[in-house]
Amino acid sequence: MKSSKKRAFPSHVGIIMDGNGRWAVTRKKPRTFGHREGLNTAKRIVKHASYLQIPYITLYAFSTENWKRTKDEVGFLMDLIRLHLKKEMQFYIDNQIRVVHTGNPHGLSKAILNEIQTVVNATSGFTGTTVNLAINYGGRDEIVRSVQRIVEAGVINELSETLISAYLDQHGFPDPDLIIRTGGDCRLSNFLLWQSAYSEIFISDKFWPDWTEADLDAALDSYCGRVRKFGGVL
Ligand code: FPP
Repeated sequence: MKSSKKRAFPSHVGIIMDGNGRWAVTRKKPRTFGHREGLNTAKRIVKHASYLQIPYITLYAFSTENWKRTKDEVGFLMDLIRLHLKKEMQFYIDNQIRVVHTGNPHGLSKAILNEIQTVVNATSGFTGTTVNLAINYGGRDEIVRSVQRIVEAGVINELSETLISAYLDQHGFPDPDLIIRTGGDCRLSNFLLWQSAYSEIFISDKFWPDWTEADLDAALDSYCGRVRKFGGVL
């Protein structure tokens, strides 16, 4: 970390892990090869975030729009995520990482929902970094589901920003201070739309499979050097 004037580390970092497909294609491999490598990168970065004691990290693993991909790619991604959760519980235990899920359960198979629930239950008492896996997640979908819950709870008359926040998937979380997107594109792609109102954005040109601990350090260094005003003045 190079900045001399350090600001506090972010409490919550969101990551749009983009560029898996392009990474594979530049190596003349199928896109799925990039996703497999992307999972290894996710573990590397989560481990480093845990070492740095970042309290919350949200990983955009599968969006509500990713169903538009080929059946094969969707099937591969679902299996990759499910098998990771099934086989690598020890990774989360070793690192005392608490896992939670954000996203719409409708549309996800029973098999993947079971694996998610097993890991969520097994890690619920851990006090290290919380990893929020965004699977079948869309920011607009989450806001709609929040409002539906508000209607069901019969408190629509009390509608406010605080109430919408309270009925989101992970209502106790701080908003993401920093959102990182790899792969060079400058957009949010329906990620944490409500929560990102004042997030700092960091775009990395590197494809996600190439990301290392040093890249996370560089993103955090950039964040620590920024002045956040939240619409006010200093
Ligand atoms: C975007 O790259 C990446 C995805 C849609 C999938 C990301 C999922 C993983 C890395 C697995 C992580 C799983 C866990 C459990 C943490 P892209 O395919 O859109 O890349 P492109 O822009 O080059 O086509």
